[in-house]
Amino acid sequence: MSKKITIAIDGNSGCGKSSTAKAVAAALGYTFMDTGAMYRAVTLYFLRNRIDINDLRDIQNALDKIQLRFAYNPQSSSSDIYLNEENVSEEIRKMNVANRVSMVSAISEVRRFLVARQQQMGKAKAIVAEGRDIGTVVFPDAELKVFMTAELAVRAQRRRQELQSRGEFVDTQDVMQNLRKRDAQDSGRKDSPLKKADDALTLDTTHLDFDAQVAQVLQWARAKIEEPLTE
Ligand code: DC
Repeated sequence: MSKKITIAIDGNSGCGKSSTAKAVAAALGYTFMDTGAMYRAVTLYFLRNRIDINDLRDIQNALDKIQLRFAYNPQSSSSDIYLNEENVSEEIRKMNVANRVSMVSAISEVRRFLVARQQQMGKAKAIVAEGRDIGTVVFPDAELKVFMTAELAVRAQRRRQELQSRGEFVDTQDVMQNLRKRDAQDSGRKDSPLKKADDALTLDTTHLDFDAQVAQVLQWARAKIEEPLTE
C-alpha cells in the first residue's frame, strides 16, 4: 500500500491554488481542504449577524455558534462548505465577503478556532490543504509544501473570469485593487502572515497553463509518496 502524505499549498489570492489543489486531490484520491472557504464562511456569519470585530466577547460568542463542514458535491465535482448546515458555497464568493475576509482572518481568535478545526480534519493525512499558513502553521510537518505565485495582472484577469462564470460582472481594475489590498493584508498581518515556508517549493504560474501546474505538483507529490518511509 502506498504511503499517505499531507500536501500543503500556500500562496497569494487568485494564483490558482484552489483549482490546482482540487485537481491534485482528485488525481490522488485525496481529500481537498479549502481553508480560504472556512475564513470566508466565518466572515459571512459575522456580516449576517453584525458581529463587532472589535469586541472579543462578541467574536468568541459567535465562534461558539459556528459549525463548519465540507461535503463532496458530485454535480459540481467539488466540495461544498456548510455553515451551520446551510450550503454557503456560492454566497462566500461574493465581493461583500471578499472585501471583509482579510480583516476577519487577521483576528487571532478566528485563526485559533479554524486552525484547530483544520488540524482535526487533516489527522488522517491523504489531504491537500490550501491556504496562506498551511505549510507554516497548520501542517508544519507536511511532506510536500508548495508556494504558488503569479503576477498581479494575471491573477486579476483569472479572478474576474471566475467571478464572471458565476454571473458576477466586475471590472478588472476593481478585482486588481481587491487582490492588491488582500496581498498587503495577508502578508502584513501579525498573526500567521502569508509567507513561504523554508522547505516549500515555489510554483510561479504566470506563464503556466492549468494542466502544467497540476502536472508539476503531481510530479512532486508522487516523488514524496514513493519515498521510502523514514523514522
Ligand atoms: O483563498 P481565498 O481567497 O478564498 O482566501 C480568503 C481569505 O482568507 C484571504 O484573504 C486570506 C484568508 N486566509 C487566511 O488568512 N488563511 C488561510 N489559511 C486561508 C485564507
